[in-house]
Amino acid sequence: MTMTYYTLGNSGLRVSRLALGTMTFGKEWGWGADRDTARAIFDAYVEAGGNFFDTADLYTGGTAEAWLGEFIAERGLRDMAVIASKFTMNMQPGNPNAGGNGRKNIMRAVDASLKRLGTDYIDLYLMHVWDRLTPAEEVMRTLDDLVRMGKVRHVGLSDVPAWYAGRAQAIAELRGYEPVSALQLEYSLVERAIENEFVPFGTRHGAGIMVWSPLASGLLSGKYRPVQAGNTGRLDGFRNSTHPGFQKFTERNWAVVAELEKVASELGRSMPQVALNWAATQSGIATVILGATTLNQMQDNLGALDFEIPAGLRDRLEEVSRTPAPFPYSYFGSHIQGRVAGGATTGDKPSGYASPVLIEGEPASVSTS
Ligand SMILES: NC(=O)c1ccc[n+]([C@@H]2O[C@H](COP(=O)([O-])OP(=O)(O)OC[C@H]3O[C@@H](n4cnc5c(N)ncnc54)[C@H](OP(=O)(O)O)[C@@H]3O)[C@@H](O)[C@H]2O)c1
Repeated sequence: MTMTYYTLGNSGLRVSRLALGTMTFGKEWGWGADRDTARAIFDAYVEAGGNFFDTADLYTGGTAEAWLGEFIAERGLRDMAVIASKFTMNMQPGNPNAGGNGRKNIMRAVDASLKRLGTDYIDLYLMHVWDRLTPAEEVMRTLDDLVRMGKVRHVGLSDVPAWYAGRAQAIAELRGYEPVSALQLEYSLVERAIENEFVPFGTRHGAGIMVWSPLASGLLSGKYRPVQAGNTGRLDGFRNSTHPGFQKFTERNWAVVAELEKVASELGRSMPQVALNWAATQSGIATVILGATTLNQMQDNLGALDFEIPAGLRDRLEEVSRTPAPFPYSYFGSHIQGRVAGGATTGDKPSGYASPVLIEGEPASVSTS
């Protein structure tokens, strides 16, 4: 396979389109890989040309960061590696300031991550989750301080509302802080909500979208069935759970899985490869973060960009997975644009300019005559 690189967001940081997720490094959470397997997954990724590693302080209680740092050091890859890590989650029971997005926790968390990773800088440092409290001003100012201190090179946001990301980026621009270069969000054939707000925001305002759970925690590998006996993988442990990130067994999702299975069979590719290829080649998506618990899975996934999904098959995946645009996006169509344009025929931007946000099912040009 050939790994291609691109610059992340508006930054000059070159990263591979497939990133390596490390949430599965370690068995502390019950569904990860042991050290030897994690090392084999890491080696396969590096040997395929990957340079973009995603981790977080929280993952497997710190094991993921520690192993990633060790694997990178053992191969002498620190200059080559682009390490993304995250703060927000609390790992000190009873200490409310050892979590969240306040300045005190960010300063504590970055030093703890640097220590576990065995490095003196993080290439991309992301707020992991919106804590619903800390103002964007405090977060962006603190992240900018970390850049100026040399502990961090670039900054990003994960799992935030789009209005918060827009505000954070505007604050950074107006105050000369380090801008948001990356957004990390869930996206897959069964979770397409980010298309409405984050894709237009990211592509227009310089934040590359890094996709997490592109296989919906394994659902899109096809290994799960509506009625199933025995333990197949990560999602089995959540069949009776109310955790919002793992509610994947729905009628709609089973229909997506069934169509994906047919499309993959017609393409002669595995279901994970087709699902990953689809996510990576959707409009505005910068990077897909690969997750695996075995070397075979990683080898399969690393072949995800070696082919194209023909238009007809892509249309079928679109048809089964499309979600209706919510308000106000449902409101911006030709019936409104005609009234905006005052009867004139309006068109797209001239060639070479960013396109306007298109409403699903609407043509780019609107003739109102
Ligand atoms: N920012 C955030 O909030 C956030 C949240 C989640 C994840 N992430 C990042 O995104 C990365 C990827 O997330 P994810 O692990 O949820 O991704 P995913 O691709 O949706 O799920 C990965 C899981 O799917 C199964 N799988 C993967 N490849 C397979 C294959 N070829 N054949 C069969 N099964 C396969 C494995 O599960 P089994 O163990 O069941 O086999 C694997 O652990 C994480 O490592 C982390 O870095 C970020």
